[in-house]
Amino acid sequence: MGRIKIIGTGSYVPEKILTNYDLEKMVDTSDEWIVTRTGIKERRIASPDEATSDMIIEASKKALENAGIKAQDIDLIIVATVTPDNLFPSTACWVQKALGLKDIPALDISAACPGFLYALILAESLILSKKNKRVLVAGAEMLSKITNWEDRSTCVLFGDGAGVAILEEGDDESGILSSYWAADGSLGDLLIQPAGGSRMPATYETVEKKLHTVHMKGNEVFKHAVKKMGEAALKALSKAGLTGEDIDIFIPHQANIRIIEATCERLKVPKEKVYINIHKYGNVSAATIPIALDELNREGKLKKGDVILMDSFGAGFTWSAVVMRW
Ligand code: ACO
Repeated sequence: MGRIKIIGTGSYVPEKILTNYDLEKMVDTSDEWIVTRTGIKERRIASPDEATSDMIIEASKKALENAGIKAQDIDLIIVATVTPDNLFPSTACWVQKALGLKDIPALDISAACPGFLYALILAESLILSKKNKRVLVAGAEMLSKITNWEDRSTCVLFGDGAGVAILEEGDDESGILSSYWAADGSLGDLLIQPAGGSRMPATYETVEKKLHTVHMKGNEVFKHAVKKMGEAALKALSKAGLTGEDIDIFIPHQANIRIIEATCERLKVPKEKVYINIHKYGNVSAATIPIALDELNREGKLKKGDVILMDSFGAGFTWSAVVMRW
């Protein structure tokens, strides 16, 4: 049995760019503070009539073309998002409809920033167990729609976008070598959208208090992210019998440049092997890694045989790492 490999990638980001200078006019912040503390210079913001599935559909078309297959060749859709079009039906079902697919399963998973890696791990298992053959995995977020634009501690961080990968079983050395995933629900309150679910349904009060937006204890999240991203990566690498020195390309979750630098130091991965696009997009949660993967793929920077490490941390808390050979 071959390894499970990515046969095509695609991504989409909205046209509208919101720069740090634009934010200076909205809240008490500065380009200097944002760049120094986070590495972010600008982010993409969706239009009011755009939804998460619209971005996934654009990214999916590119991924299908990149893979050289038709939508009809897909037999499962998994969407990782915390900003679905609706709580139900799933965003994956809207994507299925738009791609003109019938009688195949489609589901969303909620694992925040590591959602794309969680979805890759699920897709790999389902293909290996022969339940499915060719899976479309999306990581997509429209965080601008759940951002409190009056809260400078969060509104400077997030952006919108989508990335897609198509997976199938290969017949050579390429594919997923190892993975690790974990969660700690006892820390859920540190990064949360408090209202809108069954715990706190929408009321005038929840809207007035902006409880449908991201609430985060930033420095607590920061500390855990540094610790757990390092841990996830080392565990996944060790399962593959590798170390940080064997990595050709490191794609970390793009939440904060300081978290990325601390993780690289722990893994002993030199700067030139790390892919960084946080300055362009900010934190796009589940979409950061598949967008980065697609950019690398399209720029011809992924060479056959390259060892790629993907590593992420987010709300839940959840954390995950996947090692693959391109
Ligand atoms: N502009 C200017 N000053 C600001 C801003 C801003 N945008 N935001 C906060 N400050 C101020 C604070 O009020 C504070 O001021 P004080 O010292 O007078 O009280 C000071 O800056 C320092 O604030 P901290 O929160 O301690 O700053 P920190 O260095 O921790 O940086 C940040 C904040 C960028 C949020 C950082 O903690 C971080 O990146 N955390 C991790 C976020 C993350 O990884 N999220 C991951 C998952 S996201 C998801 O799952 C959807």
